[in-house]
Amino acid sequence: MSKRLVIAIDGPSGSGKSSVARAVARALELDYLDTGAMYRAVTWFIQDKGVSITDPQAIAENLSGLSITPSINPDIERILVGETDVTTIIREQDVTSGVSYVSAVPEVRLLLVQLQREVVEASSQGAVVEGRDIGSVVLPDADLKVFLTADELARAQRRAAQVAEDVEKTKAQLLHRDHADSTRTVSPFTQNDGAIVVDTTHMELTEVVEHILQLVAEQA
Ligand code: DC
Repeated sequence: MSKRLVIAIDGPSGSGKSSVARAVARALELDYLDTGAMYRAVTWFIQDKGVSITDPQAIAENLSGLSITPSINPDIERILVGETDVTTIIREQDVTSGVSYVSAVPEVRLLLVQLQREVVEASSQGAVVEGRDIGSVVLPDADLKVFLTADELARAQRRAAQVAEDVEKTKAQLLHRDHADSTRTVSPFTQNDGAIVVDTTHMELTEVVEHILQLVAEQA
């Protein structure tokens, strides 16, 4: 039987991490966890309750009863909050513009980091986990830590293509969210020491995936 493997892939929005992480998980027959989707799911839950996303105390007080079930199959994009399938709605503008506020609340991070660790521990073959703080906070002992980057324009162009939006507008939103995520008090998003940095600006998806598979092979 092959060795259990845990791979952390961090990076900003538009760095290509979701597509790359899914493809790496498929290639290595590992589970896959999208932690950004979990922060988005909490944001939807808070907004659906009518709680103000700019009130961290109210957010913290409204987390009880929250149950999040993410798919860990790289071929199935699905996430449930309780019994509600929120897969599509968490990608919409309301959630996207609220998620930086909610993900800055310490109680939210505590809850999700614990859930993320539980999901990975329960995985028999291991997992590819993508997010912003995976190599630094959630899984500092991961077998491989990768930090994906790309220049602002490349990231904005990729995001704009995904959400069918104007590149300039997408770029402004992306930079605003990057700033909020990297200046929050708890677990600010930074490039993790010890992670291998891969700049994907001029790389195709398949090249990035091949490169990471090569890094995995070198670690074996
Ligand atoms: O990867 P994404 O754009 O779907 O992530 C949504 C937001 O969640 C992003 O603005 C930052 C936050 N996030 C986080 O704080 N920590 C993570 N591990 C993953 C995402």
